[in-house]
Amino acid sequence: MIYMDNGATSYPKPQEVIETMIDVMANYCANPGRSGHFMAARTAQEIYKARLAVARLFNIKDASRLIFTKNCTESINIALKGILKEGDHVITSSMEHNSVVRPLMELRKKGVSTTFVSCARDGSMDPDNIKTAIRRNTRMIVITAASNVTGTKMPLEEIGRTALRRGIIFMVDGAQGAGHMDLDVEEKHIDILAAPGHKGLLGPQGTGILYIRSGVQSAPLLAGGTGSRSSEEEQPEDLPEGFEAGTVNAPGIIALGAAVRYINKIGIEVIEEHERKLTEKLQKGLSEIEGVTLYGTADTHEKTAVVAMNIDGMDCEDVARELNDRYGIAVRAGLHCAPRAHETIGTRQMGCVRISPGFYNTERDINAVIEAVGEIVKERGKRKIL
Ligand code: ALA
Repeated sequence: MIYMDNGATSYPKPQEVIETMIDVMANYCANPGRSGHFMAARTAQEIYKARLAVARLFNIKDASRLIFTKNCTESINIALKGILKEGDHVITSSMEHNSVVRPLMELRKKGVSTTFVSCARDGSMDPDNIKTAIRRNTRMIVITAASNVTGTKMPLEEIGRTALRRGIIFMVDGAQGAGHMDLDVEEKHIDILAAPGHKGLLGPQGTGILYIRSGVQSAPLLAGGTGSRSSEEEQPEDLPEGFEAGTVNAPGIIALGAAVRYINKIGIEVIEEHERKLTEKLQKGLSEIEGVTLYGTADTHEKTAVVAMNIDGMDCEDVARELNDRYGIAVRAGLHCAPRAHETIGTRQMGCVRISPGFYNTERDINAVIEAVGEIVKERGKRKIL
């Protein structure tokens, strides 16, 4: 199989991740922060090491402000629902995933209003449009780091500067950015960063992270055992444990730590450049095939490794099926849980095929995809003549 569905989840995982997960499960996986025995202490220590590794990747100064969750959706829900109150206004973009849009729709029923700033047809955003949307009661700006449909990067630094100047909380959905591009929370003035552990961070599924800057007041989504303040019946709101109620996914989190240490060792800029070159080659090859339409920005410096396309006259699901069944190429077709993004790029009715290479793909894989798409286009032409 040639796996090009890294936008959904990354595959394969580094060998370190697999070995770490087996080691945790086989040798010491106890309940951290609860009992005082050696195994529980070792588990807690390894989770702490994972927190430090993630903090280093995003230049988070205080690792205790980093919460482990089960995925990016949970992280986003904690932050939006824990911070926003009746009467607040939020600014977001027309390129967001349902993991942002749906909680905002729920919050709308509770008196939180939202402005969706329109992006251009290539998915890009003019940061001045954010400035114009600011109101007296704007509490938060929440923006994806990069679109999950087109890969188009958002102007995070400019938006972060605006938010900082105006005293607005700046939250970034790092679902497609984390592990693919630099997301330095200091440089970009990010107050809240949500990310999955299983996509660009190369960790296992069932893991996610949420950073909440010190000084930003949020409430946990879940209440329950934290291993701390056990005599109190009210949920403690201390970070991180107050936000990690119940037994955590220790093997997943510790393996995520191994994945992020691997990324830190390689360097995010090396990963980004490798993926950019693959994307450049893929876009160039596909753009030379007559009958293929590409969406999103053409400048690979302005996007992550995501290529959105359609073949004229073919349903995107059929294209994905042919790629899978005949060529063993894994991609994702449809609306990618982001109908507003598809509306923005003009594919709301038909969806598109998303090809998302990852760090482990090679130029040979890219050539195979270009060749396969070329053949499917050619055969479609023959079918039309018949
Ligand atoms: N959010 C993931 C995607 O874009 C699942 O495919």
